[in-house]
Amino acid sequence: MAHLLTHLVFLFVIFHYSIATDTLNPNQSLQDGQILVSAKETFALGFFSPGRSKNRYVGIWYNKLRPAGQKTIVWVANRRSPVSGTNGSLELNGNGTLTINSIIFLPMPSVALTNPVAQLLDDGNFVIREANSNEFAWQSFDYPTDTHLPGMKIGWDLRTGLNRNLTSWRNDDDPSPGSYQASIDLKGIPQINIWSATQEKF
Ligand SMILES: *[C@@H]1O[C@H](CO)[C@@H](O)[C@H](O)[C@H]1NC(C)=O
Ligand SMILES: *[C@@H]1O[C@H](CO)[C@@H](O)[C@H](O)[C@H]1NC(C)=O
Ligand SMILES: *[C@@H]1O[C@H](CO)[C@@H](O)[C@H](O)[C@H]1NC(C)=O
Ligand SMILES: *[C@@H]1O[C@H](CO)[C@@H](O)[C@H](O)[C@H]1NC(C)=O
Repeated sequence: MAHLLTHLVFLFVIFHYSIATDTLNPNQSLQDGQILVSAKETFALGFFSPGRSKNRYVGIWYNKLRPAGQKTIVWVANRRSPVSGTNGSLELNGNGTLTINSIIFLPMPSVALTNPVAQLLDDGNFVIREANSNEFAWQSFDYPTDTHLPGMKIGWDLRTGLNRNLTSWRNDDDPSPGSYQASIDLKGIPQINIWSATQEKF
């Protein structure tokens, strides 16, 4: 009986970590080791360490695609502000602001929400919206890292004033902004430019 109980507790712990939801509610935290999984299980969001780094980052990866056991990271939330231990915690506060260990890692909604949820969608977009609305107050697609996913727009958003661009990782162990940027030049004929540091290169 004690043996069976141990097993049940063990299973409970496993399920606690592996049966995931796609939604983070206010005052609920996603601890390092827990993940959000999108409805059709296409994408997962959680803490990871890239390459040989011990730093912890919040990222989105393909949930099923694991070449050589590696995660294919498509987005990094805190590329400039990693967590140094495994005590990381992603939280959504009551006005719709996401924090990692209390640090606001990217610009967040400028208008306070009243009943926010953060949700990982099946196209890999991590969005903040009012629970009863389908309109996004914030979306990770507006802050791309180095990966363009279908449905993501690159270039100026005239409504938000964001110039969304792709910026390479520094190297395989470090997702902080590296030397290469791809952005759209709207002067004249819209075209994709690849920039190295601040010099147009290619
Ligand atoms: C979240 O926590 C704050 C501060 O403790 C509290 O004022 C607020 O009512 C909580 N919101 C929800 C949705 O639980
Ligand atoms: C997490 O751990 C690091 C070192 O292990 C410590 O410096 C930091 O204050 C801790 N952060 C939190 C939010 O507990
Ligand atoms: C939401 O709360 C955070 C943390 O308290 C604060 O920094 C931010 O300005 C608030 N956002 C709005 C739109 O009120
Ligand atoms: C690319 O995006 C980053 C982050 O949003 C921004 O700091 C940078 O200025 C943008 N680059 C260009 C060329 O607009």
